[in-house]
Amino acid sequence: MKNVMEKSMNWYNFIKQSMPLPKSTGIPEVPDDPRFEDWGKHNWYTVDLLERNLADPSGLEEKYPDLQYLGSGAYGVAYDIMQNAEQSGHVLKVTKDISEWTSGNRIMELQNQLGGQLPNIATIYDVQKLQDETDDPDKPYDVYAIEVEQAEQLAQVPNELVGFLRWFFTIHLRYLRGNPQEVAPKAWDFILEKAPNNYGKGAEEKLKSFEPIFADVFSKYFDMASTLVDMGFSISDSHGDNVGIRHGTEEYVIFDFGEMA
Ligand SMILES: Nc1ncnc2c1ncn2[C@@H]1O[C@H](COP(=O)(O)OP(=O)(O)O)[C@@H](O)[C@H]1O
Ligand SMILES: [Mg+2]
Repeated sequence: MKNVMEKSMNWYNFIKQSMPLPKSTGIPEVPDDPRFEDWGKHNWYTVDLLERNLADPSGLEEKYPDLQYLGSGAYGVAYDIMQNAEQSGHVLKVTKDISEWTSGNRIMELQNQLGGQLPNIATIYDVQKLQDETDDPDKPYDVYAIEVEQAEQLAQVPNELVGFLRWFFTIHLRYLRGNPQEVAPKAWDFILEKAPNNYGKGAEEKLKSFEPIFADVFSKYFDMASTLVDMGFSISDSHGDNVGIRHGTEEYVIFDFGEMA
């Protein structure tokens, strides 16, 4: 086991030195880093893939000299931008997802039109394309960088509840036009119906943990989802790992723009 570990670490360091993501602290080291057990928040494959794909991180390193690894999903790696007062509280996301570029530009246009911060959408400060797709099989992808407002991540129980609400509202989109007071019991029934299949024997326990926060989480999620749909965005990826709380408020914001357009 030790040999395998050493080997993978050497291999990883080799890759890292040859084709790195921007310099940062806290970047997960090896595939069996315990953080990767936190499924949804850390994705080894993405970290590794972007590591090998981004040809030249020097522009990013100059602009963001003090990055700290925050998380990774199916397409991107996110960093806390630590440095100066102007950018602290912002997140840098490096992603190979072209739809983040498309949605990101649209969101920035809306911010300009409507005079700044949008409700329920993390503010975008900058979107750039770092490199174009190439025919080189080792570096084939477009890579983009987005600087975005940092949100407070959801705790585990609200995160799971938000996952169910996303599921419910993507099936019953029209309920977002309804009265939230009347829709809430339907959403709760949906969760009651789905929980046994999702959690097996743990379902009852899980539902007990949902119950006291359901009304609060539901009303915040309803507000966010109806605002997004009113603005013409899709809520299809608004699950608990892509939604957070706007600092200093109670408001839910989406910060992963991948599936929004
Ligand atoms: N603006 C943000 N505020 C707080 N955490 C963030 C932010 N952006 C990303 N993260 C963290 O990084 C993870 C991956 O970022 P995300 O934008 O969801 O990437 P992906 O498109 O790969 O899913 C998120 O699940 C979250 O834990
Ligand atoms: Mg995500």
